[in-house]
Amino acid sequence: MLELVNLSAGYGRLPVLFDISLQVGPGEVVALLGPNGAGKSTLLKTILGVVRPRAGELEWEGERITNAKAADRVALGITLCPEGRRIFKNLSVKENLLAGAFGRKGSVTDAQLEVCFEIFPRLLERCSQRAGSLSGGEQQMLAIGRSLMAQPRLVLIDELSMGLAPLIVFELVRKVRELGDAGLAVIVVDQFVKTLEDCADRAYVLDKGRMEYAGALKGATEVLEQAIGA
Ligand SMILES: Nc1ncnc2c1ncn2[C@@H]1O[C@H](COP(=O)(O)OP(=O)(O)OP(=O)(O)O)[C@@H](O)[C@H]1O
Ligand SMILES: [Mg+2]
Repeated sequence: MLELVNLSAGYGRLPVLFDISLQVGPGEVVALLGPNGAGKSTLLKTILGVVRPRAGELEWEGERITNAKAADRVALGITLCPEGRRIFKNLSVKENLLAGAFGRKGSVTDAQLEVCFEIFPRLLERCSQRAGSLSGGEQQMLAIGRSLMAQPRLVLIDELSMGLAPLIVFELVRKVRELGDAGLAVIVVDQFVKTLEDCADRAYVLDKGRMEYAGALKGATEVLEQAIGA
């Protein structure tokens, strides 16, 4: 279980997140919504530990990790599938996946790769292919697969559907639900409530660095529209 209590964070002197409280437990898929610049990516980076909190507390599986380094958090089971995917285009699919296991103690086992291939059979078919030659949807599968390589118990997915066609988004959403059903905790960011309808158990809406809503996905629409319209 991840718990954020009154967390504030920012970049240098610039405050971005104010007084954020959030919880997510095993098997739960939680949507994090909000307009451009709301602080969604910053919040995920703060949970991962690449942005340092200025106030508040962060607890993970009963342990206080407010000031723990990102590498230590990966070892504790928290990984990020970043905005824009950030795959290594000149490396193969398999090499990209192996990079995701970096920082995890011990050697990478075939079993870890198999977990990815089981969820995304398309990655197995394209195992030795240059990652840059994959379609956008396949690149997103690769980015999610890579974030699974460190055997996380919490996965943070930034901008799941960005730039992708509806059919592939539908497939990705199903996969995210499968991750939740397999017992992982997932926080998934998207611009649209509708995208996450079939995978998220509940939602948070962030606006101008403040958490404006926490609750059922349905109720998030109105808050999000207000935030975008404001
Ligand atoms: N590295 C950085 N240094 C300074 N300010 C930053 C940095 N990254 C983001 N910001 C600022 O923090 C605020 C929140 O940005 P963030 O990227 O977290 O928003 P977001 O909700 O993810 O937006 P988007 O929907 O466009 O991805 C913005 O005002 C942005 O300009
Ligand atoms: Mg973002």
